[in-house]
Amino acid sequence: MTEAISSQRRKRVLVVDYSQTGQLRRVMERIVEPLRADPGIEVHVETLRPLRDYPFPWPFLRFFDAFPESAHMVPPTLAPLSLKGDEDFDLVLLPWQVWFLAPSLPITGFLKHPLAARLLKGKPVVAVVACRNMWMLAFEKLKGMLAANEARLVDHVVLTDPGPTLATLFTTPVWMLSGRKKGFWGMPDAGLTTQQIDGTRRFGRALRDALAHGHERGSGPLLAGLGAANAQPRLYFGEKTGTRSFYLWGKLLRAAGEPGATARKPLLGLYFVFLFVLIVTLLPLSLGLQALLRPLFKQRLSRIQAQFELPSGSATDRCHLYGD
Ligand SMILES: Cc1cc2nc3c(=O)[nH]c(=O)nc-3n(C[C@H](O)[C@H](O)[C@H](O)COP(=O)(O)O)c2cc1C
Repeated sequence: MTEAISSQRRKRVLVVDYSQTGQLRRVMERIVEPLRADPGIEVHVETLRPLRDYPFPWPFLRFFDAFPESAHMVPPTLAPLSLKGDEDFDLVLLPWQVWFLAPSLPITGFLKHPLAARLLKGKPVVAVVACRNMWMLAFEKLKGMLAANEARLVDHVVLTDPGPTLATLFTTPVWMLSGRKKGFWGMPDAGLTTQQIDGTRRFGRALRDALAHGHERGSGPLLAGLGAANAQPRLYFGEKTGTRSFYLWGKLLRAAGEPGATARKPLLGLYFVFLFVLIVTLLPLSLGLQALLRPLFKQRLSRIQAQFELPSGSATDRCHLYGD
């Protein structure tokens, strides 16, 4: 068996790389560790560099100025990639963040890049999201862009901040706008825990084994049974409302000018007030109402959960094989 494996050509893995705070990069380093350690695997990391870079920490208006293009998935121009498009990868690891309930702009920039279709066509893709906790509708958009490139999404790993939703709605923006990750007023730290990040090595180990056996050529997930994706269906309705609002306000803002245009600024201020009121009133109301009505919607919520946990699922029966 070992001989059969070593006589094959080395497996080539493309890892897309973009991370502002370094959080998603640390996740990917853990996942890629076991792949790099395997002499039968060659890893290429492609770092995305938007020509007009997104600052971290974000100035207040610049942060909100990113929502119209995020919601409308308008790709930013990226610095030239080191890839030519004719490379033949066996597996693609696609880490992605959520920005305003849509895939982050650098990832949209990559997926709408002219080379993406050539790099991704027919290729198995493992997507890995690390975000606050609202990723479901953004995942639909990501899947749409992958399908447009004729890529095969085989797995989805979901990592979300462990804090309560209402707390993270404050701690995450504070982290983004000031760089302060530490919790305040009794709220937990923003972002993933070190334990969550280190735990992702299990995905790398499973991918290494899957590649050794050529399982990436099959159609099934490679990361089933590893607790890859847990969806919280109670957030779905809030995401729907938010997505609609980002889309409509985004349309208005885009009509006012390009990113950074002075004419956008008063509208952005107005939108911030609207969003703040929405978050402190409608969201808790919707979560509370849903808690009361949950028994009536049980089946619908279970269906939403099952749908969004595809393709990898939330089962954990293989964790003992690959966990620390
Ligand atoms: C502009 C912006 C908008 C964001 N919007 C969302 C969101 O809608 N839902 C969510 O779960 N996380 C959201 N986040 C958090 C990110 O998904 C991510 O967790 C964070 O930016 C850290 O990612 P990094 O690896 O780039 O440092 C947002 C972050 C930024 C910068």
